Amino acid sequence: MEENFNFITEAIKVENFSFRYMQAKRQNYHILSYKEVLKNINFTVNVGEKISIIGPNGAGKSTLLLNIAGLMEEYLKENKNNSGGGNIYIFGKQMNLKNIYDIRENIGFVFQNPDDQLFSTSVFEDVAFGLVNFLKKNNDLRASNMQYIKDTVIETLNKVNLKNKEDEIPHFLSFGEKKLAALATALSYNPKILILDEPSSNLDPKNRENFINLIKSLNKTMIISTHDMDLAYEFSERCIILNNGEIVYDGITKEILKNKEFLLENGLDLPLSFRSYVNV
Ligand SMILES: Nc1ncnc2c1ncn2[C@@H]1O[C@H](COP(=O)(O)OP(=O)(O)OP(=O)(O)O)[C@@H](O)[C@H]1O
Ligand SMILES: [Mg+2]
Repeated sequence: MEENFNFITEAIKVENFSFRYMQAKRQNYHILSYKEVLKNINFTVNVGEKISIIGPNGAGKSTLLLNIAGLMEEYLKENKNNSGGGNIYIFGKQMNLKNIYDIRENIGFVFQNPDDQLFSTSVFEDVAFGLVNFLKKNNDLRASNMQYIKDTVIETLNKVNLKNKEDEIPHFLSFGEKKLAALATALSYNPKILILDEPSSNLDPKNRENFINLIKSLNKTMIISTHDMDLAYEFSERCIILNNGEIVYDGITKEILKNKEFLLENGLDLPLSFRSYVNV
């Protein structure tokens, strides 16, 4: 089949997407109830575009990102009748149960909680794991080239400011270091799309600055979710604000971050750099 490359300008398209979690009632586990978390979400992210998803706790940010990354296949099975409706397209392909694993190959995902991502006995193994899997899946002979693997892992760890941490046990890293190691696991295989869920939480000022410079320099389609309004302002021209499962704003970050009233209404506050202080 001939591929139409002109068509693929959209990296991600979320179309009329709704999502409900299924929950068993505590009093009677035979009875399932549904918790509506995302309501009729529509947006597209173009190839190479960077956007921030902002919203208060419980707004549905993680749920949305997990769905886009193809990490909710249990729910995809039930999608039409139970967990909601709508579709997600990655590079023009509608996500379904057959292509979900291939789609995942294109997307590096960093979980909000790094303990969901790090499971090996050394930082090196965690970062190498995704890389080797990716190369194997693509029949790339470098999968068995130990020198290449080693160099790539070390180079990736240096990028996230975790130099010389390759032999550490991930479990015993500090929370901020775990976040950086989790980022390295996603960066190591150079996925086309990078999705980072609350990436800057617990980073100290130096690591935060290094991290922001790093993600800004990556020439990729990227979505980050955050309540760090300063990060959103620095990171992306465009932001989507999510509140109570609905998109309440999709536009220029700089413009909406000036609107204190709107932000407060939606459980957010002005970025620090926009607040004025009285000098005493
Ligand atoms: N596995 C689950 N089962 C049932 N409900 C869930 C589950 N995961 C999340 N929820 C609910 O879905 C809603 C949205 O959660 P989500 O984690 O997507 O929000 P969030 O915007 O990422 O919040 P935060 O800023 O705290 O990370 C919350 O009310 C949460 O309790
Ligand atoms: Mg979240």
